[in-house]
Amino acid sequence: MRPGLREAAPEDAAAIETLLVDAFGGDEEAALVRRLRKARLVEVELVAGAPEGPCHGHVLLSHLDVVADQRRIRAVALAPLAVAEAERRQGLGAALVAAALARSEAEAVFVLGDPAYYCRFGFSARPCAPFEAPFRPPHFMALALAPGALNARSGRVTYPPAFGL
Ligand SMILES: CC(C)(COP(=O)(O)OP(=O)(O)OC[C@H]1O[C@@H](n2cnc3c(N)ncnc32)[C@H](O)[C@@H]1OP(=O)(O)O)[C@@H](O)C(=O)NCCC(=O)NCCS
Repeated sequence: MRPGLREAAPEDAAAIETLLVDAFGGDEEAALVRRLRKARLVEVELVAGAPEGPCHGHVLLSHLDVVADQRRIRAVALAPLAVAEAERRQGLGAALVAAALARSEAEAVFVLGDPAYYCRFGFSARPCAPFEAPFRPPHFMALALAPGALNARSGRVTYPPAFGL
């Protein structure tokens, strides 16, 4: 993992909230993170920055209910991802995503985001096509971490109530 990245600890909660509110201009993503933690759905949560200092970056993977051709697969949602404005365009966002994916035990990762950003990690809308889901391409994308995990004729992606959909 890139120096300065580490697993989020309970003591980081306030700094993470400050980062998320600043990065997204509101409380929605911070509230999502609170609900995911409360529902014990967090698989991986990483931060950039020293303990007790400001949080420069944050990424979270949470468990997602995904069925592919009647087989339940281990899947996670990547959300949210944020980097403090002053730290952007130095590869921190990419390092957070790469480190989170490397730590994940999921077979597949789903994300809702900008295709121009997430395609660099291998995310693509194509594997989502057979899946019933609350989101549509092009912003709804997926990445198979286990080869073939998303090769399905049909399937379903169900987001937990924590997402408030
Ligand atoms: C998106 C974000 C996490 C990127 O963090 P970062 O540390 O700057 O990312 P990186 O340094 O790895 O990559 C920067 C590159 O991504 C590009 N980029 C950033 N946001 C982008 C977007 N929404 N769409 C397309 N490209 C984007 C930048 O232009 C930059 O391109 P360059 O490398 O050609 O200069 C950060 O801009 C951020 O926190 N934004 C606000 C919150 C947000 O939108 N989160 C993503 C939700 S899906």
